[in-house]
Amino acid sequence: MAKEKTKNYLSGKEIRAISKANAKEMKRLEAYKNRKADESEFLSAMKDDENILEIEDLHTFFFTEQGVVKAVNGVSYNVPKNAVVGVVGESGCGKSVTSMSVMRLIQGPTGQIVDGSIRFKSSDYKRDKKGNPVANANGEFETEEKVYDIAKMPIHEIHRIRGKQIAMIFQEPMTSLNPVFTIGQQLDEVTLLHVPGATKEMAKAKSEDMLRLVGIIPENVYGAFPHELSGGMRQRVMIAMALAAEPRLIIADEPTTALDVTIQAQILDLLQDIKNKIDGSILLITHDLGVIAEMADYVVVMYAGKVIEKGTVFEIFQDPRHPYTIGLQKSKPTMTLDDNTELYNIPGNVPNPINMPSHCYFKERCAKCTAKCSGEYPGMVQVSPTHFVACHLYDEESNNV
Ligand SMILES: Nc1ncnc2c1ncn2[C@@H]1O[C@H](COP(=O)(O)OP(=O)(O)O)[C@@H](O)[C@H]1O
Ligand code: SF4
Ligand SMILES: [Mg+2]
Repeated sequence: MAKEKTKNYLSGKEIRAISKANAKEMKRLEAYKNRKADESEFLSAMKDDENILEIEDLHTFFFTEQGVVKAVNGVSYNVPKNAVVGVVGESGCGKSVTSMSVMRLIQGPTGQIVDGSIRFKSSDYKRDKKGNPVANANGEFETEEKVYDIAKMPIHEIHRIRGKQIAMIFQEPMTSLNPVFTIGQQLDEVTLLHVPGATKEMAKAKSEDMLRLVGIIPENVYGAFPHELSGGMRQRVMIAMALAAEPRLIIADEPTTALDVTIQAQILDLLQDIKNKIDGSILLITHDLGVIAEMADYVVVMYAGKVIEKGTVFEIFQDPRHPYTIGLQKSKPTMTLDDNTELYNIPGNVPNPINMPSHCYFKERCAKCTAKCSGEYPGMVQVSPTHFVACHLYDEESNNV
């Protein structure tokens, strides 16, 4: 039998067909994103009242000329109140695209949330029809709790949440600080924007408090410009800025990756300290299992746009089930490794995100694979009240969920 020719390119005709299909879908999704909608269209309810965030079956795609990149392909995980949830996985597995979807920072028209829910328990000031906070008879601004499905919010409504109730700390702070304003001006702005009736003096006092909270002496830094600070100091400022809005959820995406090792340890200590001081949750995204082990209460393991295992930090570290999670832990450098021990590397590559197979995405790299693994993609199996794994090895252990 002649060997089937594998094609490594797309013909002009194929590219035109992809572009046409993409254009139609992007137009539909952009219109949905920019629509005017009554609040009732994006009001929702939590499945579990103990959660602050519930991501369910989220699909976020990029419509490129080569085809549709399914960067986030049916992701579900929760962030409970006052907890740290760590999301881990190799580079490119969809960790950031998930968190950018929560913040609604996915760049359209190419990038789009295509399906799924992002339920967030919001606590905001009571507002009038124009969106202005309303004071009660005593002149106080009251708050109210509502659950919003962020995935269904028109984009112009996201200001109710982004930067205020959910704040984000990015990998590279210089890109999120404005180079032409002082640290003090940028910090004050957060309070002036988000606290009704805030004066300049109140904002400055709050900014100085936040700087102290992140271990900075305000007198030295309040009037400084971002370029005058070191990378570690800028990251502290970013954390102060995130805290200034008193968010219910902080998303920290690789917050220490761009820093050198000693500074990384200091920033982690700081996050650890803040975790105990704030009345909120942290979603911590990293490819570093050591960071997760130190900080997280719950762990979500992602692979090629999907969650393949999730559980408490104890379950994931003491009783990992998915061959990928087991491999990840073996590939983690440890202090006890002597010089001539080779680091374990999971062999093989992640499949091309444009042409995902219909079977388990880890199959080509998996040493435990059986005949069943060539069949359907494995469903989520519950192996304890808090531990879930998507792998056929556990199909008999419990009912699929
Ligand atoms: N703007 C974009 N256009 C096309 N593909 C993208 C874009 N942004 C991200 N992706 C793809 O989405 C996938 C997930 O990326 P990301 O969430 O950034 O990974 P990570 O887990 O490292 O944070 C990757 O395959 C990446 O190439
Ligand atoms: S489903 Fe099969 S191929 Fe996939 S991780 Fe489990 S054992 Fe390996
Ligand atoms: Mg990332």
